[in-house]
Amino acid sequence: MAGVSQPASGAAVVVRLGNAVDAEVAARLHAGLITEGFLSALGPRFLRRLYRRVALSDDSFLLVAEGPDPVGDGSGIGGGPAAGFLAGALDLGALYRRFVLHDGVAAAVGSLPELLRSWRRAWETLRHGTSGGGEEEAGPRVAELLSIAVDPAWQGRQVGTLLVQGFLDELARRGAGGAQVVVGADNGPAIALYRRCGFVPGQSFALHRGTVSLLMRRPVGAGPQDMGPGAQPDGAGSA
Ligand SMILES: CC(C)(COP(=O)(O)OP(=O)(O)OC[C@H]1O[C@@H](n2cnc3c(N)ncnc32)[C@H](O)[C@@H]1OP(=O)(O)O)[C@@H](O)C(=O)NCCC(=O)NCCS
Repeated sequence: MAGVSQPASGAAVVVRLGNAVDAEVAARLHAGLITEGFLSALGPRFLRRLYRRVALSDDSFLLVAEGPDPVGDGSGIGGGPAAGFLAGALDLGALYRRFVLHDGVAAAVGSLPELLRSWRRAWETLRHGTSGGGEEEAGPRVAELLSIAVDPAWQGRQVGTLLVQGFLDELARRGAGGAQVVVGADNGPAIALYRRCGFVPGQSFALHRGTVSLLMRRPVGAGPQDMGPGAQPDGAGSA
């Protein structure tokens, strides 16, 4: 799978499937840019293990967006040409169970103080993953957009749109019937991105005590024409 964005300036951004090595970049972008949820608090080492498992599992995947390094020296958060990443899972509960089984001991030992400090939020996150977003589901398989982050040097240049389009294409290829994402109710840029890509806000709920999260959903298999006005991911700005 590979999507290419080729803006008029000629600075192409390519979205490709990530592998275990890309877990490093995903962890760095996540730790540096995603402040909601508790995963960032567990640090890049924990995140690297998690994203490695995402890349290695059959029913989850990483997407990496790459372009010419806009800061010229590889010092962007992701390092090198990494402009952004996205993690998706067709079965979030299965992914978390596999992570606990294969990586749980090492991840827990490496992040013990952080886990002890935030055990409640860890449990709440696991519970969300294994409960299908708080709703009992019958019908088509609903996949989850776990996380997305775009290096600040690339934000506002349609890289996020290109990643979400890549996510939806990958879900269609794998036969998922729908997609959902849980986002902090106060994360305006992310909610605007998901809306633009055809996600519709549903229920609000407290994933973690004292926070408000929004569940957003859309069907899979609909074409890019259903991603909303101006949503064609056909350019990454003028880098
Ligand atoms: C959310 C995020 C991924 C968007 O990436 P991006 O590459 O800047 O997004 P795009 O350029 O494709 O923008 C798509 C749409 O999102 C909305 N959007 C993006 N950034 C926005 C901002 N700062 N304020 C308001 N809306 C914004 C706009 O509707 C935009 O469409 P437009 O360009 O037609 O106005 C990026 O801001 C980010 O990495 N944020 C930090 C990490 C995060 O919060 N992740 C989500 C939780 S997991």
